[in-house]
Amino acid sequence: MNYRLSRYGDSAAEPSPVNRMMDAFASDFRDGVDINLGVGYVNEATIPRTGLLEAMGEVTAHPEGYRQAFNYGGPQGSPNLIRALKRFYLSERLGGMTEDAWNANDLAIGPSGATSILDAIADIFRPGIVITADPMYYIYCNYLERKGFRVITVAEDNDGIRCDLMEERLQKLGCEIEDLAFIYIVTVNNPSGVILTNERKRRIVNLAAEWSTRAGHAVPVFFDQAYEWLIHDDSVEKPLSALLMDQAGLAYEIGTLSKVLAPALRIGFILGPRGSILKGITQKTSDTGFSAPLTNQEVAAYMLEHRMGAQLRRVKDGYREKAACIEKVLKEVMGPWLEDMRGGQGGFYFYLTLRGITTDETSPFFRFLARSTGDAAIDGPAGTRNPRVIYIPGVFCVHPEGSLAQTGYYQLRVSYGFEDLDRIVQAIQFMRDAACYAETVSADL
Ligand SMILES: Cc1ncc(COP(=O)(O)O)c(C=O)c1O
Repeated sequence: MNYRLSRYGDSAAEPSPVNRMMDAFASDFRDGVDINLGVGYVNEATIPRTGLLEAMGEVTAHPEGYRQAFNYGGPQGSPNLIRALKRFYLSERLGGMTEDAWNANDLAIGPSGATSILDAIADIFRPGIVITADPMYYIYCNYLERKGFRVITVAEDNDGIRCDLMEERLQKLGCEIEDLAFIYIVTVNNPSGVILTNERKRRIVNLAAEWSTRAGHAVPVFFDQAYEWLIHDDSVEKPLSALLMDQAGLAYEIGTLSKVLAPALRIGFILGPRGSILKGITQKTSDTGFSAPLTNQEVAAYMLEHRMGAQLRRVKDGYREKAACIEKVLKEVMGPWLEDMRGGQGGFYFYLTLRGITTDETSPFFRFLARSTGDAAIDGPAGTRNPRVIYIPGVFCVHPEGSLAQTGYYQLRVSYGFEDLDRIVQAIQFMRDAACYAETVSADL
């Protein structure tokens, strides 16, 4: 007999394709042998353990400043953390933030990272159309679709989502414009690492205003800034906050401390106009678990006040160095097959398009790296398989109904977050062997 599950409940019983692939890999992952270029994990060395220990000590020792830090917290977030975020934004001039712009908006901390903010957005909107870039942040887009939303993707170029194509796509919606729910843009895109320029950002904010008028209802735009504090290439223009561009009160920014501090703290937040969206998100936090864990919020507040400036510089320096080296090795080693390469200027992804080499789970390239070709000379002897390399195939990153659906078969996301440099270099050498193998297999067919 079947349960009376919701649409979401029904779909959640089936793991998403990426989760299935990653679970299969994780179940017998061998530390120090297999190489994981698939996850968005940060490098362990970037996590400031000593600082976190000090922060925990201070929070525990000073209940007068960190009130009831081991108790329930309020749904909007810890006042200490909200204050510390404001100070940090203003002192680091993040997004060119001004005190006036900050005060004109509101901030809410999600119960469990930026992911929980994205989840809340999916809950407070009636399912409808969501516009986003292609390639897309597959985790959230997959979730939106399981919640009943229709994700429409628009191709990006090196400046971010193509606004001309976005406008064309909106025109094409015709009377379906009534179903347009919101626009979702990742400012340093996951998977591609493409950084949205300020000019594009401004155009998107203007498009949201224009199409709200045309749709007859407000169409907000959510800028996901998961990697924006990690733009490590100093030649890139400094991103400006969309809140400074927005006249219509439709722009929101979602931030996280996961990538710059520690994912396990699960601190994510949303900044935007006061009103029903922020109220809805705050209520959702209360419904999910009353608040984000207060202890973590207080530790994060301490870190922001005392350590974060130096931490941010250290983390950016590390990824900058890694990216420069990996870019060079990718060009040298994968050069013959490299049709296009994006990313490497912020966050920790490269997104590659290979010439003539397919990358999906059934491809010879993938199977070589997963050591599942069936050929012992490649896979290694049973029981002691050769080192495996995992990456995210492009087919998971492009929308199956979007214009990149076919190109996705030749693409892959390579993360330089988690693994150390020497292992990534080794993985790229395995990729060259995998590409050669793929060519011999297709020549034999
Ligand atoms: C684009 C994007 N948004 C949000 C998140 C999730 O961040 P958090 O750890 O704060 O939930 C990630 C994590 O990889 C991401 O890539």
